[in-house]
Amino acid sequence: MKISIIGLGSVGKAAELGLSEFHEVSGYDIDGRGVWQDALSSELTFVCVNTDAAEDSTLDMSNVIDVCRKLSEDEYSGLVVVKSTLQPGTMDKMESEFPRVRLTYMPEFLREKDAVEWFGDPDRIVISGGLEDMEIALSCFDWVSESIPRLRMEHLEAELGKLAHNAYIATKVTFTCEIERIATEFGVDPYPVMESVWTDRRVRNSAHLTPGLGGFGGKCVPKDTAALSSVDKDPDSILKILEERGSKKAVERRNMNRISEE
Ligand SMILES: NC(=O)c1ccc[n+]([C@@H]2O[C@H](COP(=O)([O-])OP(=O)(O)OC[C@H]3O[C@@H](n4cnc5c(N)ncnc54)[C@H](O)[C@@H]3O)[C@@H](O)[C@H]2O)c1
Repeated sequence: MKISIIGLGSVGKAAELGLSEFHEVSGYDIDGRGVWQDALSSELTFVCVNTDAAEDSTLDMSNVIDVCRKLSEDEYSGLVVVKSTLQPGTMDKMESEFPRVRLTYMPEFLREKDAVEWFGDPDRIVISGGLEDMEIALSCFDWVSESIPRLRMEHLEAELGKLAHNAYIATKVTFTCEIERIATEFGVDPYPVMESVWTDRRVRNSAHLTPGLGGFGGKCVPKDTAALSSVDKDPDSILKILEERGSKKAVERRNMNRISEE
């Protein structure tokens, strides 16, 4: 397929390298690399421009919107596959603003230092858009093993999923830092403490990442979390937040409040 990549940073370069083994690929960047006309003559274009944090903590969508506007004005007839990370709601807004552009969203999950390797070896491919367009976008990745899930969803689900994935990484890292702090305060090595955690089957699968849990409960999780929290001198510890927000009772309380407000 004749493919173009718009935005040749970490993600765009990895995409260019990864896809050029299987497709005819051209690149364009606003910094002067490549030729816009090549993007216009492609059958499919990946938008990999930066979406940096704005002052109010939202993601700045201006680069993505500028590119889509330009594609619309130049009557691009190929399929647009947005790879940049988006503020939730952006795809729906762009579909209204640029009705003639065929838009899909395929968030990228690679890590910067392993960009090329991970682009070529994804854990899953998430895609949202029209039924036919999703299949066309996925067909660029026919070379990815069939065992790798292709997750088809709504735009908002894909936008939230991309942000949720990084928020989960932030949660895990924060948790580990907190346990490391507590272990160090006890004068013990945090490594075996965390080793007891990561070797568990419930940590290594999706059981506690599947919606519908309604908060944590059971005989041991609430009391042991409270016990660890009780020896933690930091009043703002994440463990205190877990107790306040994560237990079944806390979740039920919040749900009751929500229902009574509705
Ligand atoms: N870097 C990562 O590890 C990573 C991982 C997953 C997702 N992402 C997301 O992917 C997107 C791209 O990230 P990146 O790290 O490659 O960004 P980057 O800053 O490395 O590169 C972005 C490129 O886009 C170009 N650009 C900006 N506006 C343009 C325009 N209007 N037309 C053409 N080119 C334009 C810039 O000149 C730059 O070269 C972001 O939304 C980012 O959040 C990044």
